[in-house]
Amino acid sequence: MGLSTAYSPAGSRLSPTPLGAHAARRRSVHLLLRPRRPGLAIVRCSVDAAKQVQDGPAVVAPKSEAEVGRKECFGVFCTTYDLKADDTTKSWKKLVNIAVSGAAGMISNHLLFKLASGEVFGQDQPIALKLLGSERSLQALEGVAMELEDSLYPLLREVSIGIDPYEVFEDVDWALLIGAKPRGPGMERAALLDINGQIFADQGKALNAVASRNVKVIVVGNPCNTNALICLKNAPNLPAKNFHALTRLDENRAKCQLALKAGVFYDKVSNMTIWGNHSTTQVPDFLNAKIDGRPVKEVVKDTKWLEEEFTKTVQKRGGVLIQKWGRSSAASTAVSIVDAIRSLVTPTPEGDWFSSGVYTTGNPYGIAEDIVFSMPCRSKGDGDYELVGDVEMDDFLWGRIKKSEAELLAEKKCVAHLTGEGNAFCDLPEDTMLPGEM
Ligand code: LMR
Repeated sequence: MGLSTAYSPAGSRLSPTPLGAHAARRRSVHLLLRPRRPGLAIVRCSVDAAKQVQDGPAVVAPKSEAEVGRKECFGVFCTTYDLKADDTTKSWKKLVNIAVSGAAGMISNHLLFKLASGEVFGQDQPIALKLLGSERSLQALEGVAMELEDSLYPLLREVSIGIDPYEVFEDVDWALLIGAKPRGPGMERAALLDINGQIFADQGKALNAVASRNVKVIVVGNPCNTNALICLKNAPNLPAKNFHALTRLDENRAKCQLALKAGVFYDKVSNMTIWGNHSTTQVPDFLNAKIDGRPVKEVVKDTKWLEEEFTKTVQKRGGVLIQKWGRSSAASTAVSIVDAIRSLVTPTPEGDWFSSGVYTTGNPYGIAEDIVFSMPCRSKGDGDYELVGDVEMDDFLWGRIKKSEAELLAEKKCVAHLTGEGNAFCDLPEDTMLPGEM
């Protein structure tokens, strides 16, 4: 049985946004909680921005009760916009649907407002945010949606919240999968792989069933490489190439450390690859990175520092941060998700590249096939990427890469039951740890 509650947001306040001058908004606002599956509730919202752009200046009639009932929505986002499209709105692109899991968490709390502001996809790109939480976090999700309402972002055309991935992922163009369980006290890593693996197997199935056929997926929840592998294996009808594990935070951390050592601002550091797993075996590649266009080793002559201190600092930065903050990185993770998306939707600067954990099939480096491994990528800005061919290898780099590869192959065996590869057998290397564990 559906539960429908009239909900009155910020009264009759009119937005002073760029749209405000041209838009009179009818406030027909509803909050609908409608269980769609046993035990699942969803709150959704919709404003048809793309149609508004196509149709040009228009006076849109208020929605009938039946129409509102068909498309559930959150608060002010249920409003029927009486939008006179001006030059700005006519140049807007087609709406992009973005799902975010773990939407009531700290990382999302930074990320959602960046997405809504236009700093990620551009000031001509309206977006819909589809927030996935859990039954426990539903109240908090409503709080997040209320803050999004109160921010009056002109580009934010829809917000919906829910706990069923089959509902939330419908037609999404991007899925930013942040939600995962943290490793609790005394929990074996194999248990963590299993618990989180289940979440990503379910989400992979849901994406496979209902997402846009070209959805781009960025897995942030740890252990993100193996979670991304599980997710893509459960989504056989989607291109495996579209699945990423977030290692951009590690790339940013590595750039910062090299800049500090060289005494330059961090925008001078380029071509920074993180190879491998988002764990303490990750390999920040100082052989191919550049400072001010010069090989790092020409600028930083201290090889011992590069091999030992630099490498360890980057690998363990997440753990040191947890010690200081008492919780995992959130703001810098959100920034790195923004960077990761922007790297895919804007052309990579000539000669440079970025790191992302991607599916290894057909990689030119000789890394084991069929895992998700961070490698150097370039993009034309169309959401797709290609691997960078011309990178140097030496014994130190290759030795480290093999260690991270071995760890990922062992993790893969632990989750064989979730990837359709038979029985799981978990025998992880002793020192297998997330960056946050030390
Ligand atoms: C990070 O790199 O900051 C996080 O992945 C750490 C963690 O384990 O949560």
